[in-house]
Amino acid sequence: LARGVTEPDLAGRHVVVSAGGTREPLDPVRFLGNRSSGKQGYALARTAAARGARVTLIEANTGLPDPAGVDVVRVGTAVQLREAVLKAASDADVVVMAAAVADFRPETYAAGKIKKKDGQEPEPIVLVRNPDILAEISADRPRPEQVVVGFAAETDDVLANGRTKLARKGCDLLVVNEVGERKTFGSEENEAVVLGADGSETPVPYGPKEALAETVWDLVAHRLR
Ligand code: CTP
Ligand code: CA
Repeated sequence: LARGVTEPDLAGRHVVVSAGGTREPLDPVRFLGNRSSGKQGYALARTAAARGARVTLIEANTGLPDPAGVDVVRVGTAVQLREAVLKAASDADVVVMAAAVADFRPETYAAGKIKKKDGQEPEPIVLVRNPDILAEISADRPRPEQVVVGFAAETDDVLANGRTKLARKGCDLLVVNEVGERKTFGSEENEAVVLGADGSETPVPYGPKEALAETVWDLVAHRLR
């Protein structure tokens, strides 16, 4: 095929992509959140649709406009994201967890706004673990041939950390980003290495998030055959 013409190699496939970052409420006006922009997940959704897939995009707090031809489900918290991913994954060929999921949530939610009290130190915030959606989907696939992809941002020994995480999560592919100055959060570009459970290692040079998305779908399409 000519350059710029997309091959519909995901036609007839249902892919589920999560994007953005979860927010864990403390009270009606406050939450614990993270800096994920959702741009990488949206790039994955757009490129999968262009390659012919039926796409369910589960987005958490991105504020981004719906991509054309994609079913969008909006969620807020990690628990809501889990519900939506498990539901959509039941008939999916591929699940890609690009969302930044809060590892912890406040143990209690204050129904009324938390107020300062004169002369009193603040109450500590007690956190509890959130469910690990990627590990759960990977261990208990609704379809045995389903391909499951995770993302990880790492520092220090990026590749070794990525390998350990891939094994712990039990997914097929793990896209590992190195976090640093110009890299990742909110930017239009990304640089990564995609690790495969089969031992493969695919470097993706610094470039648009679309290019990384296309590489992920190339690797996924290969595993679907
Ligand atoms: N993830 C998930 N559910 C969670 C946490 C993470 O599904 N509760 C997914 C993310 O969407 C991502 C992958 O797991 O695809 C890796 O996330 P990361 O935060 O790097 O992994 P953790 O296991 O939380 O490890 P860490 O302690 O390094 O944060
Ligand atoms: Ca985490």
